[in-house]
Amino acid sequence: MKVLRCMTQWSALRANMTSSVGFVPTMGALHEGHLSLLRASAAANSQTVLSIYVNATQFNDPQDFAKYPNTLEADLAKARSAGVDVVLLPDFEQMYSDGFRFQLNEIEFASRLCGTDRPGHFTGVLTVVMKLLNLVRPNRAYFGLKDFQQYMLIKDMCETFFVPTEIVGCPIVREADGLAMSSRNALLDVPARSLAGRFNSLLANAANDAQAVQALRAAGMSVAYVETVGTRRCAAVVIRSGDCAVRLIDNVAVPGSLLPTELKDAVA
Ligand code: PAF
Repeated sequence: MKVLRCMTQWSALRANMTSSVGFVPTMGALHEGHLSLLRASAAANSQTVLSIYVNATQFNDPQDFAKYPNTLEADLAKARSAGVDVVLLPDFEQMYSDGFRFQLNEIEFASRLCGTDRPGHFTGVLTVVMKLLNLVRPNRAYFGLKDFQQYMLIKDMCETFFVPTEIVGCPIVREADGLAMSSRNALLDVPARSLAGRFNSLLANAANDAQAVQALRAAGMSVAYVETVGTRRCAAVVIRSGDCAVRLIDNVAVPGSLLPTELKDAVA
């Protein structure tokens, strides 16, 4: 497994790759959810490229950025065991040589759901993902469906801008009690972790969005939103863990009409 910090070196390596490249962009702190993406890529492509880059421009809260976990040594060991061929570790200077003068905005869906109280978040995500896709030029790129809104936006962006990469959405990987795997789970203390374990079942078992809000509040979570989009009931909650407020997201399947992007997936 090659570990590269210099993106010029990567571009030279990429120029000589002729067989299929699968790509998993991450911000590190790898967990089973990421490993499932890496395994899916390794099974379908000759080469799997992992990027680890904590993207400052998608954090609207500087404290959230500052406390983002850094577990590089453990991440590299996990990457090796999941069949990764190349790990890219770019830095801010390489990713944002423009100083973030150029930004990719989506003006409808990005300001709803997680965009409501995280202004600019999806601009940061879409901008860095476009840069990474152009840098890696993968045949396929893998994203977890836990971040459903992110997945939809990236898929639409790639179609809109004729990006020739297939965007593959992978199933949510959950803990035994249903909590979706997330790097943020590491920030939960014991009582907060126990409360977080009820998030998924309360969301899935409610008859509608309003009842889900009530049930989550009654359990002691602060609710940022519960909103059904197409066939997914999406939610974000904030759980207190000691001095920290930990924001968690999840989504579950509910009856509804497929979104245009989902319809294309179903037909494909
Ligand atoms: O899902 C994430 O970890 C990030 O939003 C991504 C896609 C790596 C972009 O920084």
